[in-house]
Amino acid sequence: MPTALVPEPSHRVTIDLGVRSYPIDVGTGLLGNASTWAATPPAAAALIVTNATVAALFGDRLTGMLRARYKNVHTVMLPDGEEHKDWQTLNLIFDALLRHGCDRRTVIFALGGGVVGDMAGFAAASYMRGVPFVQVPTTLLAQVDSSVGGKTAINHPLGKNMIGAFYQPKQVICDLDTLQTLPPRELSAGLAEVIKYGPIHDLEFLAWIEANIDALMAREPAMLSRAVVRSCEIKAWVVGQDEREAGLRAILNFGHTFGHAIEAGMGYGQWLHGEAVGCGMVMATRLSQRLGGVDSAFADRLTELICRAGLPVKAPQLGADRYLELMRVDKKAEAGELKFVLIDRPGHATVRGAPDSLVREVIEQCCR
Ligand code: NAD
Ligand code: GLY
Repeated sequence: MPTALVPEPSHRVTIDLGVRSYPIDVGTGLLGNASTWAATPPAAAALIVTNATVAALFGDRLTGMLRARYKNVHTVMLPDGEEHKDWQTLNLIFDALLRHGCDRRTVIFALGGGVVGDMAGFAAASYMRGVPFVQVPTTLLAQVDSSVGGKTAINHPLGKNMIGAFYQPKQVICDLDTLQTLPPRELSAGLAEVIKYGPIHDLEFLAWIEANIDALMAREPAMLSRAVVRSCEIKAWVVGQDEREAGLRAILNFGHTFGHAIEAGMGYGQWLHGEAVGCGMVMATRLSQRLGGVDSAFADRLTELICRAGLPVKAPQLGADRYLELMRVDKKAEAGELKFVLIDRPGHATVRGAPDSLVREVIEQCCR
């Protein structure tokens, strides 16, 4: 039988980590294309980790593709939502692996957004001390950020992503077609992480996003492709230099210190991660402005873009004390001293402390 002619992925970004290097494929039609799956790690069994929302859309397609490569293809469904990113849900993956007698070559496929990806990755890192896994991100946020770079985690009631591991996937497959079914709120949440790369690293990309934000909101495939590819290139460049966040990688957390406080303070799942990051970037930019890193015109410009992306720019009224309390449970905090990713000049970020009094003023300003 002739081999079906199938297009190569439109773009391949490689994340260079020596023996842990891997490709990030970005394109349309990848899920249903047999060649996409030709180089996934060989094994007798595959376990697809997903949830009912995503499985209804793409589960059959992925299962069909994997059946051609793996003798046994199992699926485990996790409850959908950030509030389920916890031990109890993680255990469902271990239950499935053990119930199906999965050995240490079993390949885990994370089919879904960042919640599924982070949990499937953590399960892969720990089952039998590590099994291979492949990220198949289906949200914009997961394609531009969470599926790349090997951070895996679950939440703890006292802090977000507090329990986890650095563990790299073998491959990341970003099928842009999956973004067409995303609810608008989720698309905006993903745009927050796209916008993030501009102020911290690439002003040209920031200007491109500003010029094309309406086309991105309209999900034009060529625009989505450029946004995903450039985001992955920047993330791969950062992670390639600092896989375990000894320094540089922390810049990818721009907006996250305030954002994580919003997520935890409002209750996981109330504000989407990307919404909290969007608002957190407004707050971090205002703090950067107070410290002289950017002028008010730059801070206004970024706030306007975040607003145009359909994201909240007004912080919720948790009270400055509560913000500070929540922000102290942050992986960047050292001996209880808060550290923020701030813009020290447009297109460049640094990690530094700031006086509590100034942080309080910024919180109050951003809640108004
Ligand atoms: P998510 O995983 O909750 O997905 C959002 C919603 O969209 C879910 O209801 C999901 O079922 C649904 N969905 C997924 N794909 C869909 C599709 N194609 N069509 C329709 N619906 C779809 O949220 P997210 O924004 O993808 O990820 C957020 C999580 O990622 C957070 O837990 C955050 O901490 C984590 N994160 C991790 C990293 C990292 O480096 N590991 C980076 C950023 C964010
Ligand atoms: N999302 C931040 C990081 O991967 O480091």
